Amino acid sequence: MQVLHDAPLAPLTTFRLGGPAARLVTASTDAEVIAAVREADDSGTPLLVIGGGSNLVIGDKGFDGTALRIATRGVELRGTTLELAAGEVWTDAVARTVEAGLAGVECLAGIPGSAGATPIQNVGAYGQEVSSTITEVIAYDRRAGETVTLTNEECAFSYRHSRFKADPERYVVLRVRFELEAADGLSAPVKYAEAARALGVEPGDRVPLADARATVLKLRAGKGMVLDAEDHDTWSAGSFFTNPILTEEQFAAFRARVRERLGQDAEPPAYPAGEGRTKTSAAWLIDKAGFTKGYGTGPARISTKHTLALTNRGGATTEDLLALAREVVAGVREAFGVTLVNEPVTVGVGL
Ligand code: EPU
Repeated sequence: MQVLHDAPLAPLTTFRLGGPAARLVTASTDAEVIAAVREADDSGTPLLVIGGGSNLVIGDKGFDGTALRIATRGVELRGTTLELAAGEVWTDAVARTVEAGLAGVECLAGIPGSAGATPIQNVGAYGQEVSSTITEVIAYDRRAGETVTLTNEECAFSYRHSRFKADPERYVVLRVRFELEAADGLSAPVKYAEAARALGVEPGDRVPLADARATVLKLRAGKGMVLDAEDHDTWSAGSFFTNPILTEEQFAAFRARVRERLGQDAEPPAYPAGEGRTKTSAAWLIDKAGFTKGYGTGPARISTKHTLALTNRGGATTEDLLALAREVVAGVREAFGVTLVNEPVTVGVGL
């Protein structure tokens, strides 16, 4: 176990933002993770768990406690079952499943971050969510003081949400188990219209796994959603806001507001999101509220490739980023009456 004092955290985040941690512990086995968590909890020290740092906004003052970096490794592939240590790099794991001819996570290629973070916000893209393939999550339960195994159902997954996100102080994910599908080298049925179009197939068709992965990587890169140290458009946390889910009543009011503002033929994006609920597009709302691609003049700006990604152009502070985020939230609320909610976890700061 490595322990550093007054350690910079910004390099551990994809935003490259935030002040130092009083203490930074790097744990490379489950036992080390558990020992570090117990030590913090026993001494009443605040704990911040850091995986890939791809969904994390740390305040400029940093973190006055123990930051625990999960650096555990382990990929076990047996038949169609995959078990990943929390610290595994997610994109590498996806590449492994594609090589092994297994379907179920190929559309989650190119998502930055660690395997252990995927159940927390039920990572999803291009028609797949980890909730469809995760069978069990092994976690350290800080309340019970023991390691527990949660079934898929117990994880209470929904859109960008789970039991872990609902109760962030309780669990530290150690391992994640997936059940994949052997479909003769083919992908799962392609659900996302944009991906199907790019692949030249109909939604619901299967394609060679490697094609699905390559197409998703290309689509993501076109939106600035594949990390590249040289490209400031990718110094982000991916989507900064979740897509709003509205009740029928809220959607009707929203649609009326859209028509008032953008003309009687205007139609907001709408996707079914379960009983009586409609998901609309945060990227669209931001765009139509006047925050177009590349918006901003300071060191924190909207990505030039996708309005949902806020980016650090280099030299930004967390306050710069938050000022932009607050401006966007206020502008969208004023234009359309919808309040955007941030997707990344904030530490020591809020919108
Ligand atoms: N749009 C704009 N302007 C833009 C970009 C998009 O108006 O600059 C509108 C378009 O109407 C477009 C719609 O937004 O059709 C949806 O855009 P996109 O297909 O890129 O999807 P998204 O809803 O913006 C979500 C996820 C992404 C995921 C993609 C693909 C959330 C919060 N975001 O983005 O996930 O990669 O779908 O499945 O659900 C992430 O969570 O960090 C993330 C990158």
